[in-house]
Amino acid sequence: TRHYSIAFIPGDGIGVDVLGEGRKVLDALSSLDGGLKIGYQEFDWSCEYYMNNGVMMPENGLDQLKGHDSIYLGAVGYPGVPDHVSLWGLLLPIRRQFQQYINLRPVKLLRGIKPPLAGKGLEDLDFIVIRENNEGEYSSIGGRMYEGTEMDMAIQSAVFTRHGVERVLRYAFSLASSKGKRKKLTAATKSNGINHTMPFWDEYVRKINSEYPDVATEITHIDALAAFFVTKPESFDVVVASNLFGDILTDLGAAIVGGLGIAPSANINPEKNFPSMFEPVHGSAPDIAGKGIANPTAAIWCAGMMLDHLGEYELAAVLMESLQQVLEEGAALTPDLGGKASTWEFGDEVCRKILGKG
Ligand code: NAD
Ligand code: IPM
Ligand code: MN
Repeated sequence: TRHYSIAFIPGDGIGVDVLGEGRKVLDALSSLDGGLKIGYQEFDWSCEYYMNNGVMMPENGLDQLKGHDSIYLGAVGYPGVPDHVSLWGLLLPIRRQFQQYINLRPVKLLRGIKPPLAGKGLEDLDFIVIRENNEGEYSSIGGRMYEGTEMDMAIQSAVFTRHGVERVLRYAFSLASSKGKRKKLTAATKSNGINHTMPFWDEYVRKINSEYPDVATEITHIDALAAFFVTKPESFDVVVASNLFGDILTDLGAAIVGGLGIAPSANINPEKNFPSMFEPVHGSAPDIAGKGIANPTAAIWCAGMMLDHLGEYELAAVLMESLQQVLEEGAALTPDLGGKASTWEFGDEVCRKILGKG
């Protein structure tokens, strides 16, 4: 048997609902394949935990996560706790301390999803965004000065290091070279307006490109790139971006393949000296929390990415096939996809498809 231990952090809002469905799907896969044994350790770290304890996680929280094979997370953040407090108290320290410097975010139209862009189908919407996940614009370096006066101001510095930039670019080039359909890499920049960090980034794109001469590389300004996501998504293969640019691009990427309910993400520590973390691109969606209508597709797809990362390729493929069958049949779609089903009905249907393959 293959045993995996998963740190399970549902978090806030719809994170709780969608993660429950992902876990049901993993359980269905375990009954399909008796050799797969998944143990979960649950953590109630969340904004509610913060209200009760004054912190998002215990002081030794990261130590408690360290020994697990993967972390499966819903979403963090809820009205009542300032977002920078909740996110810097839980999600961002995990990404950083565990050196999950690669954030893999596929932009791929699944079978059964009605293409949001006119004239663009399955062939046109299939690329991957690599988001730098440890530095860049998310620096926490800076400060507020002269608060309460006419001179009130805030400064935030972006940090781009040779080490941090080279490692994410190498990963992206290597992916484009080995798995890319067209061996093409698009690097997001803004070196026209941001005149220190972005020229630095571009310089390393060219340098690492020389290690991967088979990869066709383009450096595209982030503003134009955002437009091209909509007008010519078929031109992308692997896209690499700094932390903030990658964040914004991937909500846009979600929108062009069916919305935030669909898009998964994997926070990868390539060296495997710490666990990697799998979580939807979307947040806790307070506007629909508690209504039972959140789309669990992203969370279920994340479970698939987690299985891939653990080397369970066949089961990941069964999961993705079952998920797409349910989307294609269309009877259990959630309201964001035009259906009437609940979060749970969708998840149950995916499980039924999986068990039907036994
Ligand atoms: P959001 O992604 O939570 O919601 C944006 C919109 O998309 C909302 O209208 C929401 O209803 C919809 N949506 C999101 N996921 C959906 C799903 N699975 N099914 C159907 N509709 C869905 O973004 P936001 O409103 O900017 O953020 C809400 C909170 O979540 C904030 O506290 C934010 O900081 C946090 N957040 C956390 C994470 C994370 O932990 N990974 C990611 C993004 C945002
Ligand atoms: C994401 C989220 C987070 C980010 C927030 C909640 C800090 O938007 O995972 O995309 O910006 O990384
Ligand atoms: Mn985001």
